[in-house]
Amino acid sequence: MKTITITRPDDWHAHVRSGAVLKTVLPHTVRQFARAIIMPNLKPPVTTAAQALAYREEILQAVPAGFDFMPLMTLYLTGSTTAAEIKMAAGSDHVYAFKLYPAGATTNSDSGVADIKAVYPLLEAMEKYDIPLLIHGEVTDERCDIFDRERVFVDTSLTGIAGSFPGLRIVVEHVTTSEAVQFVEAAGANVAATITPQHLLFNRNAILAGGIRPHYYCLPIIKREHHRLALVAAATSANPKFFLGTDSAPHLTSLKESACGCAGCYSAHAALELYAKAFERAGSLDKLEGFASFYGADFYRLPRNSGTITLEKSAWTVPAAYGEDSLSITPLMANEELSWKIR
Ligand code: NCD
Ligand code: ZN
Repeated sequence: MKTITITRPDDWHAHVRSGAVLKTVLPHTVRQFARAIIMPNLKPPVTTAAQALAYREEILQAVPAGFDFMPLMTLYLTGSTTAAEIKMAAGSDHVYAFKLYPAGATTNSDSGVADIKAVYPLLEAMEKYDIPLLIHGEVTDERCDIFDRERVFVDTSLTGIAGSFPGLRIVVEHVTTSEAVQFVEAAGANVAATITPQHLLFNRNAILAGGIRPHYYCLPIIKREHHRLALVAAATSANPKFFLGTDSAPHLTSLKESACGCAGCYSAHAALELYAKAFERAGSLDKLEGFASFYGADFYRLPRNSGTITLEKSAWTVPAAYGEDSLSITPLMANEELSWKIR
């Protein structure tokens, strides 16, 4: 049987939620990834190191027996974050980054930053204390077409941030456009990006052609085919600026299949298998290990993992849903066949 074995990977962008949903989804992340950058957009958001430590404990309690897993916590940047909190977070053993959400850009981003220039003193503190800034790169201007919001953010905000803080490590999270890819490629070594499985595998037809498919709806929204091709080229280029971040974002099926469905694709159930599909399709399976297991760790200045994980060519059908009835979560590619399977 055909197999591939790679160093155990990490997920550099994951939403694992809390409570009952955490218990359903965390085992999926843990069986593949040694570590994950945990997004702080709970309700209310995780804004202080103390809150992050409490959330970390809740996550560790949900790790199934027999697995090693290290949650890498992040703090939600708000207009009221202080330089003192940034210094404390940078000195903390468990906080690895701040996340900037433009206010209103996505799920649970109401507490986000309304005026990016106004938080420049905080970005200066992050640069000084050397803690990475993770950015949801979309403008929130209602007049801006939703398919243009990332490209416009690159021009109106990202270029300014990167230019003003040349020593600040920045991750442009879940890049979805050729423009964002070009920006990251042209920027200094301090600027990197994560790429999700859905943006490598699908274009916007998956959401809209032949019927509306809410489980393919996430933010930034999946774009046209030429953007997908730019993302695949970046992910398979062995450029260490691009690494794995699933943006796995579980929502209850009832909240996705609704007149106004939530943004977020749930991909943790088969993350590595989905990436393997995308890399195989590009003829670049040999580039999967760098993307999944090396470049993110290097960027965060953490050791690469020592264990391995093996995928085998063995068809399986993704379940229709995970979790108890009322808490059911529909995964990406539900009821469809995948050809790679974690052994
Ligand atoms: C994320 C979520 O549900 O928390 N949703 C999404 O569509 N990606 C938030 C985010 O990362 O934008
Ligand atoms: Zn996210």
